[in-house]
Amino acid sequence: MKSLNYLSVIAILGLLVACGKSDTTGTETAAEEETPAVSMVADYPMDNPMEYKGIGPITELTLPDVIDEEMAQHGKLVYDSLCTACHKADQELLGPSPQGIFDRRNPEWVMNLILNPDEMLDKDPLAKELLEKYNGTRMTNQDVSEEDARAILEYFRTL
Ligand code: HEC
Repeated sequence: MKSLNYLSVIAILGLLVACGKSDTTGTETAAEEETPAVSMVADYPMDNPMEYKGIGPITELTLPDVIDEEMAQHGKLVYDSLCTACHKADQELLGPSPQGIFDRRNPEWVMNLILNPDEMLDKDPLAKELLEKYNGTRMTNQDVSEEDARAILEYFRTL
């Protein structure tokens, strides 16, 4: 009995030492907690941006096969008045040309970038990549209504 008690004292001492050790490694654990943010970006399908819908009010949008010419004309008017300070229809200016945009971007993503550029540029990995490519020039929020943004998309389809 006596020797058993002796052993348990040693065991308790051992536990105490182990606890003390894990305390000193506390800082390392904190550093490890930051890794999930990085892996979230890695999960994003950067190899296929067409799968990604961005962040904002538009979750589902299917463009019909036939272009609505009237809507496209209205979209051109809105685009010419709000967007051409930074964009040209057929070449790069401060931002990319929208030509062929739906070959590389999903319509939901384009809508969300127009309607919600601030959050997109802060959080959406694809928008952040563009921001870097365009040397930190930020697309600004032009207070476009959902209807006008949709018309701009129709105009983009005619380019
Ligand atoms: C202050 C300049 C500025 C204005 C105004 C602006 N944009 Fe942009 N736009 C940019 C920049 C720069 C980018 C690239 C992302 C970034 O760095 O913000 C961009 C990106 C885009 C993209 C993504 C293109 C791609 O290849 O993925 C679309 C679509 C777009 N803009 C549409 C518009 C529309 C529509 C308007 C008007 C309602 C508009 N932009 C107004 C500067 C601007």
